[in-house]
Amino acid sequence: MSERATGTAGNEPFLVVEDLKTHFTVPAGTVKAVDGVSLELRRGQTLGIVGESGSGKTVLSRSIMRLNIGGNVHTTGSVRYDGRELIGLKAKEMQSIWGLEMAMVFQDPMTSLNPVVKVGRQLTEHLRFHLNVSKSEARQTAIELLRSVKIPEPETRIDNYPHEMSGGMRQRVCIAIALACGPRVLFADEPTTALDVTVQHQILNLLATQQKERFMSMIMVTHDLGVVAGRADEIIVMYAGKVVEKAPTATLFAEMKHPYTEALLRSIPKIAQPKHSRLSAILGRPPDLINPPPGCSFAPRCPYAQQRCHEEKPVLSPGSTPGHQFACHFPVGTPEAREAFDRNLAAGLPVTLAAAGDSKVSDDDLVTSAGGA
Ligand SMILES: Nc1ncnc2c1ncn2[C@@H]1O[C@H](COP(=O)(O)OP(=O)(O)O)[C@@H](O)[C@H]1O
Ligand code: SF4
Ligand SMILES: [Mg+2]
Repeated sequence: MSERATGTAGNEPFLVVEDLKTHFTVPAGTVKAVDGVSLELRRGQTLGIVGESGSGKTVLSRSIMRLNIGGNVHTTGSVRYDGRELIGLKAKEMQSIWGLEMAMVFQDPMTSLNPVVKVGRQLTEHLRFHLNVSKSEARQTAIELLRSVKIPEPETRIDNYPHEMSGGMRQRVCIAIALACGPRVLFADEPTTALDVTVQHQILNLLATQQKERFMSMIMVTHDLGVVAGRADEIIVMYAGKVVEKAPTATLFAEMKHPYTEALLRSIPKIAQPKHSRLSAILGRPPDLINPPPGCSFAPRCPYAQQRCHEEKPVLSPGSTPGHQFACHFPVGTPEAREAFDRNLAAGLPVTLAAAGDSKVSDDDLVTSAGGA
């Protein structure tokens, strides 16, 4: 994209997603995997997208990158990148975006890498496909990329097959491939879930360092609020294909309003203990995306749910703090929520969360949390 360096004046959002919907037609009906998501991304910003498995995070990321192009996929809404509408573009037209402007690091490095091709060749082929460089230039660049992602002895390692590397090393190679053409946006979709805890830290720190050095923007997708707590500038919480809460990170942790966000917070051991000892898994299961409940999708699992919640869908609306939005009839911490919670408790409903309003976490909690992305 020629206006790459100049297309965004100041730090206005250069990626603007509006009312994005991705629905899949399956024999049982229509799966509304992403159902009206809007978001914005600025240069150098990290946006965290958080939600349980099946909430639509991967489909959303792939839809923004237009990687969901296929027969049973129906995507509507708008994805504007530097003012250019991406929805409707064919795969061929997306070639100038993929790798060069937007790149993705996936959960499992083994499925991203070709097991029978040396990692160096996978990097050099990527470089030569996108950039006009000679074989020897590509090899030299590949070695430098491997060095930048902290692969020891890259001159030797470049000739390894993926199986000759550890899981953490393979993910570093995937990050090197994603960074190879200097994308402006890196999507990291649960990039450390397949790795053990110490390696998770290293990979998350590597991503953060690379992002800063390159002044790149990042969309960090995770099921674990702890992963994005100290890393994202803004967090979007997804449930059943929709955004249920959205806020600058500090605001979200200080003033979270959606019961689902509160439940996600309480399901993180490292944040929830020892100060928040009433750690709990979230009751129940996410809704059927073909036949979602008529009112609030979270109502069957929500400790604050009242009759209104089962009948009327809450709309994403602004809170009192700039940038904070949530979709809930009885927001956490309000007298209405406390009354709703007490009514459910008195009625003997299976309420597992603590009473509303004590979900704040300290800065210490945020920086010490790690978890798996
Ligand atoms: N190709 C597909 N066809 C039908 N349903 C799909 C397809 N891809 C994803 N889904 C469904 O969309 C929902 C969201 O999936 P996904 O975005 O992968 O969730 P997450 O990344 O948050 O775990 C899930 O219910 C999943 O089963
Ligand atoms: S209080 Fe009602 S609207 Fe809010 S999340 Fe719970 S069920 Fe949904
Ligand atoms: Mg996913």
